[in-house]
Formats: sequence, C-alpha cells, structure tokens
Amino acid sequence: MLLGVNIDHVATIRQARRGIEPDPVMAATLAILGGADGITVHLREDRRHIQDRDLKILREFVPNELNLEMAATKEMIGIAIKTKPDLVTLVPEKRLELTTEGGLEVKLHRKKLQEAIRRIHGVGIPVSLFINPQKETLEIAKQTGADMVELHTGIYADAKSTKKAKELTRVVSAVKMALGLELLVNAGHGLNYFNVSPVASIQGIRGLYIGHSIISRAVFIGLERAVREMKELIYP
Ligand code: PXP
Repeated sequence: MLLGVNIDHVATIRQARRGIEPDPVMAATLAILGGADGITVHLREDRRHIQDRDLKILREFVPNELNLEMAATKEMIGIAIKTKPDLVTLVPEKRLELTTEGGLEVKLHRKKLQEAIRRIHGVGIPVSLFINPQKETLEIAKQTGADMVELHTGIYADAKSTKKAKELTRVVSAVKMALGLELLVNAGHGLNYFNVSPVASIQGIRGLYIGHSIISRAVFIGLERAVREMKELIYP
C-alpha cells in the first residue's frame, strides 16, 4: 500500500507571509527521505497554498508519484496536460471551504468529468476521482472512464464510537465494489495516527493519501520522522 503525502499545509504556512519559507519542495525531499511513496499537491483556483512554481519544480524533482489534485476546470486541465504529473485526482472545489469537503458529485457532473478524463488521458496520465464510498457513485465513476477512485474517509475519521465501525464497514464495502468494477482504489482525508490502522488493513487498497496529520506531527518531531511513523502504522 502506497503512502502519498500531501504537502499543501507547508505552502499554507509560506503563504501566510507571502515569502519563500517553508518551501514545499524541501518538504517533499524530507517526506521522501521518510519513506513517502509519492507527493500530493492541490493546485487550487485561488492559489491559496500551492503555487504554479511549486508544481513545476516538484515535477522535475519528485522521483516517485506526483499526484496533482485539482478541479476539473479548463485552466487546470491545461496545467495538467503541460506539467504531466504521474496521477491527476479530480476533486470538488469551493472557494469558501477550508479543505475539500466531500466527494465529487459524479452524477451531476458526469459529462464534465468524462470530458476532463478524456483530455487528461490524451497525454497518458491516469485519473482518479475523489468520491464518497457509495455504490451508485462508484458505478458512475466507472462510466466516466476513470482509472481509479479515492474513497473519502473523512466521515469515518470524524465518526465517534459505534458510528465509526459503521463508517469503516461502508469503506470496506466500497473497496470491494470498486475492485469488482475493475477500478483501482485509494483512500484519504482525515486519516491520522489514531485512525489509520483499520483502513490500512483493508485488503485491496492501492494507496492512502494523507496530509494534515503528518504535517501537524512534523511541527513537533520533524517531517522525515512523522512520515516514517505513519509508514510504520501502514506496514506494522
Ligand atoms: N485526499 C484528498 C482528495 C484531499 O482533498 C485531501 C485534503 O487535501 C487529502 C486526501 C488529505 O486529507 P488530510 O489532509 O485530511 O489528510
């Protein structure tokens, strides 16, 4: 199971002063030294954290998987085609949200997603759709031509007591369903050092995409060690 480390928050700190530090490129180096199997960045329309320059340098530098999270807009599709990340993950994007709030509304945006995937596939980049772990959503995701899905684990992560077990079951069933549809399946959002193990033990998941908890821990213990500790939980 891969660990993709999202380094957006490092860029958020830099943008607080609109300066040059801390540099997300340096963060990518340390995350990779700690065992990250890939680096994820979300280039948002409002450029609130990751900048175009970051993506350009990371493309030259990241030796394993560079995953570009983005909205399926004309501008972003153009950037993806030009930059050629190893993977594009399409996500919903709202200007006022603090972070990605939910999975894509695949039914509503089916045509738009299909067209985005067709264009990104045109330059040989695989595409993942960030979706809620639901049967109908998975079926429509398959119909769009996506290669893989990333199941939203935020509801599982936030759930308390008995609800948590129920939400985990939902993720487990969605993984099985995705594999049945011949989609590769990833998971992410809200995963941390306390809730990652049950998700990491689900058979068939290709990769976990984690940001906030790793960067938060890194503030105290350093990024390389924070990534290594997360990897140890994924591979106990
Ligand atoms: N996957 C996707 C699609 C996301 O949008 C995010 C948040 O940027 C993550 C994973 C990582 O979530 P977290 O920061 O909660 O680990």
